[in-house]
Amino acid sequence: MKKVGLLATGSYAPERKLTNSDLEKMVDTTDEWITTRTGIKERRIAADNEDASDMAVAAARDCLGKTDLRPDLLISSTATAERACPFQASIVANRLNLTNLGAFDLNAVCSGLVYSVAVAKSMIQAGPYRNVLITASEKMSMLTDYTDRASCVLFGDGAAALMLSSEEPEHEILATELGLDATGSDYVIMGGREDYYLRQDGRKDFKFAVTILGEVINRLLRESGASKNDDFYIVPHQANYRILESAARDNKIPIERFIYNIDRYGNTSSASIGLALDEAVKEGRFKKGDLVVLVGFGGGLSWASAAIRW
Ligand code: ACO
Repeated sequence: MKKVGLLATGSYAPERKLTNSDLEKMVDTTDEWITTRTGIKERRIAADNEDASDMAVAAARDCLGKTDLRPDLLISSTATAERACPFQASIVANRLNLTNLGAFDLNAVCSGLVYSVAVAKSMIQAGPYRNVLITASEKMSMLTDYTDRASCVLFGDGAAALMLSSEEPEHEILATELGLDATGSDYVIMGGREDYYLRQDGRKDFKFAVTILGEVINRLLRESGASKNDDFYIVPHQANYRILESAARDNKIPIERFIYNIDRYGNTSSASIGLALDEAVKEGRFKKGDLVVLVGFGGGLSWASAAIRW
C-alpha cells in the first residue's frame, strides 16, 4: 500500500473582525456570556464581495507556495459555495491555472475537511493520483441570522488548504474513519426553502460532539498503538471550547493536548480544523514522531478522523 503524507498546509482569514463587543450592540448578549459559554472572543467576516471560492483560492495559494508539486486531484470542501455551478473546485482550479487534474466539491459540513482527507488518501492508494490538494472554505456569515443571539455569536468565515502526497509522504496519514448518525440529521439545518439561516439544537449537538470526540480519540489511540502518556495532539473541529473541556475531562486527557484557536475565529465549519492545524504547524508545535489526530464533527450528524504520524 502506498504511503500518503501531509505535505503542506495553508490558510486564509478575512481581515474584518467581529468582536463580542460588536455583537453586544447587535443582539441581547454580553461578552461575558459568549466567552464563558463558548470560549469565542472574535471571529472574521468576509467582505460582501468576497465569496467562499475567493477564500479557498487564497488558502490554496498559501499551501502551494510551500511545495513545488502540483495537484493531480483537487477536492473543495464547502457548504457555503456561492454558486451551484461552476462548482467551487472548478473556480479554484481556474483561478490558480491548475490543469491536467480531476476536481470535485465535497459537502459534509463541519466534518468536510477530514472527510476529504479520508477520500484523498483512498484515491491516492487505489488509483493513479499522487498529489491531492484539499481546500476547505466557508462563508458562514452568509447563512447566519444576525438577529438570533443563540447562533450569530458562534460563526465566522475562513479557509484552509492541505496537500496530500505519495511522492513525499512525510507526516504519514496512518488511519482515517468516517461516520454518520443520520437520526440527528435535523439537529443542524441551513440553506432551506422555508428558513435559509442556520438553526441548530445546540444542546443535542453539544452532547453528540463531546461523546463522539471521546470515542474517536480513544479508538484512534488504541488503533495507532499510542497511549494517553504518549506525545499526541488532537486538532478538533472548533465549535465550542466547552466541548473540548468536557471531552478532555470525561476521557482524562490533559487539555494541553487539544489544539484550538476558537477564541479568535469562532466556528468556521469545515475550515476550522485546517485553520487550527496550519497555525500549529507555523508555530512549530509538533515534533517528529508525535501523533496528530484530526477530528471533525457536526451537521449530519457526521464525524471524521485522521491520525497522522508527524
Ligand atoms: N447571549 C446571552 N444569552 C444567550 C445567548 C447569547 N448569545 N444565546 C442563548 N442565550 C440564553 C438562552 O436564551 C438561554 O436562556 P434561558 O435559560 O433563559 O432560556 C440560556 O442562554 C442558555 O441557553 P442554552 O442554549 O442552554 O446555552 P448553552 O450553554 O447550551 O450554549 C450553545 C448554547 C453555545 C449553542 C451550545 O449549546 C453549543 O455550543 N452547542 C454545540 C453547537 C455545535 O457544536 N454544533 C455542531 C456544529 S454545527 C456547525 O459547526 C456548522
